[in-house]
Amino acid sequence: MNGKVCIVTGGNTGIGKETARGLAQAGAKVVLACRDTGRGEAARDDIARSTGRKDVEVIALDLGSKASIRAFGERFRAAHERLDVLVNNAGVWRSARGTTEDGIEATFGVNHVGTWLLTQDLLPLLKKSAPSRVVVLSSKLHYRGRMDWEDLQFERRKYGTTAAYSQSKLANVLFTKALARRLEGTGVTVNAVHPGVVRTDLMRDYPKLLTKLFNLFLLTAEQGAECSLHVATAPELAGVTGEYFEKSRIKPAAAEALDEAAQERLWALTEALAA
Ligand SMILES: NC(=O)c1ccc[n+]([C@@H]2O[C@H](COP(=O)([O-])OP(=O)(O)OC[C@H]3O[C@@H](n4cnc5c(N)ncnc54)[C@H](OP(=O)(O)O)[C@@H]3O)[C@@H](O)[C@H]2O)c1
Repeated sequence: MNGKVCIVTGGNTGIGKETARGLAQAGAKVVLACRDTGRGEAARDDIARSTGRKDVEVIALDLGSKASIRAFGERFRAAHERLDVLVNNAGVWRSARGTTEDGIEATFGVNHVGTWLLTQDLLPLLKKSAPSRVVVLSSKLHYRGRMDWEDLQFERRKYGTTAAYSQSKLANVLFTKALARRLEGTGVTVNAVHPGVVRTDLMRDYPKLLTKLFNLFLLTAEQGAECSLHVATAPELAGVTGEYFEKSRIKPAAAEALDEAAQERLWALTEALAA
């Protein structure tokens, strides 16, 4: 990865931080895109200490804010002429309904809409830097996801944590497939991954005792970063696009994720929301 430039969203903690560390270790110049730059800087210092790389950078990004996403893109382009890997890692699992700065239901807004807009904003640079890669953190829970087209943002139905999260992770795979189609022939690939069930801050909303018990059975964040790192860097995956990976292997995604009409319906709807 020497000479390559990579962005990891949510690179300040959990799977994102270990993904960033792995990319830096492999020789890449890494930018941590974080909503809390103080936490981002702490992660940057830790990655610098463990890898010896002094060029890890932090740029503020709130995926719940279109203004912040655009400002991130501008700052990134002002400092970098290329982008080789975009790891769309940041995500939330919310126990109660909330909204982003732009007024979109937060799970859908951050996990899908913000991720969609950031990727769109960075696409010209990814194309210019081809061959380049986009990695989208989905989840095995996307198999349980159902797109409620009449109420994607839980405005009419009761908010359900797993329903909201699974729907957003299904949206991540629908997005991956629709984007791969649009990127055919450009040299930019896009793939979705499930990182495993990993001990991170993701369930920070939940009672501490419950998460402590649950955590006993989970992968470490370092193990959770393996699949993202493989999809972002493995030479044998050059040209592989539109796939869903688990344990670093391609697996068929949920039937609903393969539905081209659903992929396009979500694309059009997201385009309108992100405008
Ligand atoms: N852990 C698992 O078992 C598991 C399983 C399947 C999929 N995943 C997926 O893996 C990805 C990483 O999750 P994780 O487990 O490492 O969770 P985590 O430790 O909670 O990390 C999530 C990251 O996303 C960032 N983030 C949240 N909202 C954001 C926003 N509005 N703008 C920018 N960044 C934001 C967080 O920043 P702050 O620290 O500032 O909040 C944090 O850096 C997520 O997409 C998650 O859905 C995780």
